[in-house]
Amino acid sequence: MNAPLKHTADATTVEEGLAIAEAQDKQYTSEMATETAMANTLLTPRFYTTDFDELDAIDVSSVREDWDVLIAQMEADPNKGHFKKNEDWDHVDWENMEPELKKEFIDFLISSCTAEFSGCVLYKEMKRRGNNKDITQLFQLMARDEARHAGFINDALREAGLRVNLGFLTQKKKYTYFRPKFIYYATYLSEKIGYARYITIFRHLEAHPEHRFHPIFKWFEEWCNDEFSHGEAFALLMKTDPKLTSGINVYWIKFFLTAVYATMYVRDHQRPAFHKALGVDPDWYAHEVFTKTSKMTEQIYPITLDIEHPRWQRNLEKLQKANVDMVDAKGLKKLGAQIRAGWAFVNLYTIPAKKHAVPASVRLEPAY
Ligand SMILES: [Fe+2]
Ligand SMILES: [Fe+2]
Repeated sequence: MNAPLKHTADATTVEEGLAIAEAQDKQYTSEMATETAMANTLLTPRFYTTDFDELDAIDVSSVREDWDVLIAQMEADPNKGHFKKNEDWDHVDWENMEPELKKEFIDFLISSCTAEFSGCVLYKEMKRRGNNKDITQLFQLMARDEARHAGFINDALREAGLRVNLGFLTQKKKYTYFRPKFIYYATYLSEKIGYARYITIFRHLEAHPEHRFHPIFKWFEEWCNDEFSHGEAFALLMKTDPKLTSGINVYWIKFFLTAVYATMYVRDHQRPAFHKALGVDPDWYAHEVFTKTSKMTEQIYPITLDIEHPRWQRNLEKLQKANVDMVDAKGLKKLGAQIRAGWAFVNLYTIPAKKHAVPASVRLEPAY
């Protein structure tokens, strides 16, 4: 008798997780989901590659104490076996889901799966190429988590007859090159904003369970704790080199903060039915997530964006509107919308940032 196929949730290494995912890819696939995941636009998740040798050369001895505590927490693996369906998984009536909601929710799942898997491929590659024990150990642990997250979203998609073919994406999706420091800024932020997004939805649905239209949201608390640890790891990596968070690099930090926040705002406003079903006003949600993320990033960044500035909300709305116009328009109208979007971004970027002192010790614990 064959042993039953193990689940990605139980995989203890990324290699094992990916082997399970690949076996599932062979059983079941969906062109629609994979094609959606293949898209590379400003608003869709991308895959990244970097200078792995430079990353491998990081010496973590200056943050050794915090580093060892964090790695030990991740090694203890509190979420092993968590990311799979159990008796808490309620039946989902995909057939009778309101069509707009269904469309937006599927788009949300595919985009989240792609984003999780993007982390997985980047972290796994670093682990594979590196020789530095600290670095390869960390990236193995983070890749393990992301493989589980992506695998779990694929479970949810499967009930709707869909699956993102992860093996195909690894082979065929375009990889964007980012220098290591840009990887730190972008990945640190995406982990921390991921935590803020998931915990905000989780807490909201705890208070309003009648809006929990799909069981996957019940898993968001443990989920965001994984993202929180990943963010902590990047904070420690940046802490090893003070140059990364001072001087000219502060302008880069501001750029990534603005780009990540603005992208989230525009992307979420494309899903009105999804937010209505959750009982969440996307403007309130964005403000809440930015507030939490900014509070956390004070652990390492000397600036935060002034999201209370009158120009902030106004230009986010302009950017969002220009983005909607860009999709439908052609020729000069399209160009006009692109210029308006660019101008709105410049207006966001040039809002004076709030400066503050960075604490000597970086480490935080999940607080929301
Ligand atoms: Fe993740
Ligand atoms: Fe993560």
